[in-house]
Parts: sequence; C-alpha cells; structure tokens
Amino acid sequence: MAFFSFLSRKSESARLPFRTDIHCHILPGVDDGSPDVETSVELVKRMRNWGLDRIIATPHITEATFPNTPDVLDPALHELEDALKNAGVDVDLSRASENRIDDFFRAELAAGQITTFPNRYILVENSFIQEPWQLDQFLFDLKIQGYNPIMAHPERFHYYFEEHPERYDQLHRAGVLFQVNVLSLAGGYTKKEKRTAEKLIEKGYVDFLGTDLHNFRHADVIDAYLTTKDARRHFDALENRLLNDKVFI
Ligand SMILES: [Fe+2]
Repeated sequence: MAFFSFLSRKSESARLPFRTDIHCHILPGVDDGSPDVETSVELVKRMRNWGLDRIIATPHITEATFPNTPDVLDPALHELEDALKNAGVDVDLSRASENRIDDFFRAELAAGQITTFPNRYILVENSFIQEPWQLDQFLFDLKIQGYNPIMAHPERFHYYFEEHPERYDQLHRAGVLFQVNVLSLAGGYTKKEKRTAEKLIEKGYVDFLGTDLHNFRHADVIDAYLTTKDARRHFDALENRLLNDKVFI
C-alpha cells in the first residue's frame, strides 16, 4: 500500500500545477520555437505528460525578427492540429501570440489583426534591452480598450531586477497580470531569473505560470525540475493563486 501511494505521489509531483498553458512556441516554422510539425507533435506529447490538456500557442510577434500575421500563423496552427489528430494526440489546441510592445504590434492591434486569449486577455512582452517607451500609458490604454494585459516573464528583464525592482510593485498594483516562466523557476536561464521569480511568488504577484517552451532542451529542463523539492515548494506556494485554468472559461 505504502509502495503504491509513493508511486502516485511521485507521478503527481511530475505534473505542472495547472492544465492550461498560455505561453509556448510550438507552432511549426513561424518563430524561434519548433522548426517543423514533427518536432511540434513531440513537444506537445511532452506537454501532455505534464498534465496539460489545453494549450494556447503564443508565437512571437516582433517587428524586428518575426512580423507574424494571421495568414502565416493560422495555417501553422491548422497544420499542427491535423498532425496531432493523425498522431492520436488528444489536446485542446488554439493560438494567440506573444506580442512584443513595438510599433508593429500597435499597428496590428489597431487593425484588428491580433488574436487574443478568450475574454480579451493578451500576452505582451517588453524588450529585453530596455523598458518600452511610455509602458504604463500603453498598458493603461489597453485596459481602457477592454483588454486584460498579461506581462510575459517579468522576471527575465534585467533592467527591472537589477535596477528597478520597484517597477514590479508599480505594474502589478496598476492591474497588470504577471506570467512567470516555469523555466525561470527551474533555473533554466540563470540564478537571477530564478531568484526573481521566487521573489514574485513571495509577493503574491504570480498570476500565471507558462512553460515558454521552445525546444527539447527546454522540455528536458522542465522534466528534471518537476521531480525536485524546489518544484513542490514553488507549487505549494502558488496553490489556489494561479489563473491559468480559470479565466478562459
Ligand atoms: Fe515566449
């Protein structure tokens, strides 16, 4: 009996504490994530093993590198849907995008070319170099227009955690939701991102977790992390706090 309960505890610990991923790069050939549909199917299988059954793919939309539009992204989504069906992988797949705050995104949004999450939740991303110009005003304007902005991986922006950690308080208090990467908690970047992500948990600022899965290396990092005491500690602290499975109903 004890043996079986150990086994079930072990399999539970290898799962993510949510079933809906709102941040991943698994659409084939559209950004720096999965290069082809075969890779995409294998990545989705890994995600299913973590207990995910609803996946919202969020390919990059960035002016400088991936100026993606629906006529590129939607066929990639349908290609993956067909391949998953043929492979017998049962998952609720849809797409939105991870939107770098730049002029291209502003124009696409104004033109109605941005697919949001349900309930007008929208994933936005700062530049990694510096905070976008007039960020607070932009986020405020989004809210006025009825969007619910979710900031992608705030723990990864060095100009916040090294120079202006008070920005986390300001932005979260202003109603911007924070999505932290599982990869940050796993130590998949550097110790600084991990420590910052843990601080955001302590402050109660983590509204969503996302995998930000791009490739098999990321999947291996997450697999290894899910068996650790760190993961259990993080997930215990986040219990009943995550919105991943709540806001898309
Ligand atoms: Fe991403």
